Amino acid sequence: MIEHAMRIERDAPLGIAYTVADAQTLDRTFAPASFDVATSCLALQDVPDPERALRAMHTVLRPGGRAVVSIAHPCSDTPYREWLKDAGGRKLALSIDRYFERTVMRYRWTGWSYEFTTPAVHAPLEDWFRWILGAGFALCTFAEPRPSAEALREHPDLEDAARVPYFAMFGLARS
Ligand SMILES: C[S@@+](CC[C@H](N)C(=O)[O-])C[C@H]1O[C@@H](n2cnc3c(N)ncnc32)[C@H](O)[C@@H]1O
Repeated sequence: MIEHAMRIERDAPLGIAYTVADAQTLDRTFAPASFDVATSCLALQDVPDPERALRAMHTVLRPGGRAVVSIAHPCSDTPYREWLKDAGGRKLALSIDRYFERTVMRYRWTGWSYEFTTPAVHAPLEDWFRWILGAGFALCTFAEPRPSAEALREHPDLEDAARVPYFAMFGLARS
């Protein structure tokens, strides 16, 4: 992904500098208070220590800086999760369990040019809010993004994502 982005920047420069770094030690890679905005899209649940990554993000933001962070929604991305289906395969309800477990889940990705496994931290929402507030952020907004009616018309197979929350998004200010 990053090589692709770097290639595009080389071909059509926009003045973007790409750096590969560990989110947990961003504060060692960049000077404190050196960014106005930080974003993290569906990545922090894959980082072994999300709390540490949030603290590092807070450190590299200038006071008054903003962060937008999305994660897999802990209420649906649980250690046990299964869609109950009718005889025709229609999704009836999402069955979840073990929401309050703090654990690492392993996802096996198939159907790519190679197969791989990624770890994902599962923790209840109360942990995420504690990590965010503990890092020193103020919570400005919280959203649970889902497909619009228009998106559903174009992609009816996204229907399940309009019934249960798959994503959680935090709008944060560095105090
Ligand atoms: C589910 S993917 C999301 C990728 C992309 N942001 C998107 O939305 O399509 C999770 C990403 O987290 C990255 N990641 C995992 N651990 C990380 C860490 N310690 N520091 C920085 N990135 C990490 C992975 O390399 C991967 O690109």
